[in-house]
Amino acid sequence: MRKVPFQESLKIIGRGSVNWVADRPIVVSFEVTDSCTCHCLHCDHGGPRDDSRNLRPVDYRRYMKELRPCVVQVSGGEPLLRPDLVEIVQSIKDGSGLPYTILVSSWTLMTEDLYLKLREAGVDQFSVSLDFPDERHDGFRCYPGLYRHLEDLIPRLAQLGYDDIVLNSCITAENLEEINAIADKAREWGVNLCYSAYSARRTGCRDYLPTTPEQLAAIDAQFHQVESRRDTTNWIVNSPSTLQATRRYFKNSGMPGCKAGHRFLVVTADGALQPCSMQFQRYPLEDRHRMIREFTRNNRCDECYVSIRSYLDKSFPQLLWENVSGFFSVEGR
Ligand SMILES: C[S@@+](CC[C@H](N)C(=O)[O-])C[C@H]1O[C@@H](n2cnc3c(N)ncnc32)[C@H](O)[C@@H]1O
Ligand code: SF4
Ligand code: SF4
Repeated sequence: MRKVPFQESLKIIGRGSVNWVADRPIVVSFEVTDSCTCHCLHCDHGGPRDDSRNLRPVDYRRYMKELRPCVVQVSGGEPLLRPDLVEIVQSIKDGSGLPYTILVSSWTLMTEDLYLKLREAGVDQFSVSLDFPDERHDGFRCYPGLYRHLEDLIPRLAQLGYDDIVLNSCITAENLEEINAIADKAREWGVNLCYSAYSARRTGCRDYLPTTPEQLAAIDAQFHQVESRRDTTNWIVNSPSTLQATRRYFKNSGMPGCKAGHRFLVVTADGALQPCSMQFQRYPLEDRHRMIREFTRNNRCDECYVSIRSYLDKSFPQLLWENVSGFFSVEGR
């Protein structure tokens, strides 16, 4: 995984440290549309939604000024459905290296031209969802032809050499035997890989949550093998401690200690603040501290261990150390 250049790393670490002390979020996820191209079996989105009240690109400046996150996720629904996505990214970046910006997408609508334009606008990391290393991905996402599209496009874009594409694989009861096969695919295509964990909270369906002793043993064995495949390139983006915690999350069917609303939060397509994408209490931008008081301080929800959580449950020194060793440069070369 491409490391962030030295000067930018310093700025991100500096802003992160200030935010940590000032109780501002480290990561903000902008859900830029609720509409989607897919109807994934594990998700509560799917198909078109009312987009009439979506924020405009220029509106994102106000959120950035107030929240000053060091990392932004641009997500949805399917963010590539926004015809003005390049402008949204430009507005979030405002000509500076900050924040580190991750586009989370299914890539149903990605093209080489759009990838280059989004890079130019300031996307630092392209997170592409992949649930299976073959056509079963189409079935799970209810989008025929998607796997072939990814198989054609991803290796071609990886060859450009920017090293900024990460496959994002949500582990479910359906694909847990494919954990290493998905890693094989990432290697074959020349890209990086990040695992995430299924939460039943989105749809209420517990069928996809691995809970049986056999399923938990299979995840342990698969992760054991993943650990042996790490190298100095950081192509497996999750830290060892995050994969350990993911095992615990599945074993206990939950993970307490969530900091949603405080260390990270979601901005909905129409501009409300929400603690996370699966908690729907809405607050105006000016009421962020009320969200911390009312929601975060009383939150007992332990129902997910998605990546945004897995990064920010950590103590600040651990968070800093893992990012410095994985993503940021610490020498001015
Ligand atoms: C909600 S989608 C939004 C961005 C884009 N549409 C995509 O699929 O990448 C972001 C990520 O959430 C994951 N996801 C969807 N439902 C989930 C669930 N129930 N538990 C955990 N992750 C889930 C998806 O696999 C995807 O990687
Ligand atoms: S996971 Fe992403 S692509 Fe699938 S339905 Fe949800 S938002 Fe859409
Ligand atoms: S554990 Fe936290 S991030 Fe996950 S659904 Fe619950 S409140 Fe949201």
